Amino acid sequence: MSNFPNVAIREARAMIQDAQRIVVLTGAGMSAESGVPTFRDAQTGLWEKYSPEELATPEAMYNRPDLVWSWMLHQARVMRSVEPHDGHRMLGSWQRELVDGGGALNIVTQNIDDLHERGGSDVLAHLHGTTFTFRCFECQAPSDYRLEDPTDEQLQATPTLDQLKLEEPPACGVCSHGFIRPNIVMFGELLPQHAMDDALEAVREADVAIVVGTSNIVQPAATLPIAASAAGALVIEINPHMTPLSQDADLYIPGTAGTILPELYP
Ligand code: OAD
Repeated sequence: MSNFPNVAIREARAMIQDAQRIVVLTGAGMSAESGVPTFRDAQTGLWEKYSPEELATPEAMYNRPDLVWSWMLHQARVMRSVEPHDGHRMLGSWQRELVDGGGALNIVTQNIDDLHERGGSDVLAHLHGTTFTFRCFECQAPSDYRLEDPTDEQLQATPTLDQLKLEEPPACGVCSHGFIRPNIVMFGELLPQHAMDDALEAVREADVAIVVGTSNIVQPAATLPIAASAAGALVIEINPHMTPLSQDADLYIPGTAGTILPELYP
């Protein structure tokens, strides 16, 4: 138990103390304290420095497979090299406890890393896919390509686009004329089958929705807290900066995932 002297924390604990069904909706801010850059934070956000059109669309990958593959590989290596923080681990413990007691803690994430899983949680839905599995860009056949553990040299090169060491994506082993890509959702693509359905079901049956580290502007993920609220869930938002959701949330807690989540452990 904690003596954290924050009214918002106490209020949040009161809101979750009898909840049996929790849904946790996470975005890039959830991984930030592990060392994965977010997309839209001033100075450090990836889309503050680079253009999604150049790096994160199917058209970009078709036109410059070497550039987009090398960029995505670099991102994946960074994600592979970092560790879950106390917020991830808290969710893992809380999920086990709720499930053992007949309840549920469903995690729905926009993140393509595996920090929730390595922090001990099962993830219900990776809305934007995952960066550690691959398929053919052309024929869509799953690939058995595995990302090797990154070397220090690969990690220390924090490249700008100009400095990126370009690698060609491996060829597809099935159709032989395509190349492989990670199973992530690029701009303009549909979400993975079932991910949004599973997420909507989880928010509709939740007593409480905890929204952590997302700017709440990318659709359709941004509709999930609204759907949760419409279905009767209390919505708690954790984010150091206010978002379009903050005014409408039942409780907004200004703070980071790594510091606030552990304080909520019932
Ligand atoms: P954004 O980069 O848009 O927003 C990150 C949010 O995390 C911001 O609101 C920050 O204030 C907050 N934040 C930063 N550090 C935090 C911390 N330590 N603890 C808690 N919150 C923190 O990221 P997303 O909302 O996840 O899509 O972006 C949504 C999607 O846009 C991503 O999944 C990605 C991107 O383009 C695809 O790749 C398809």
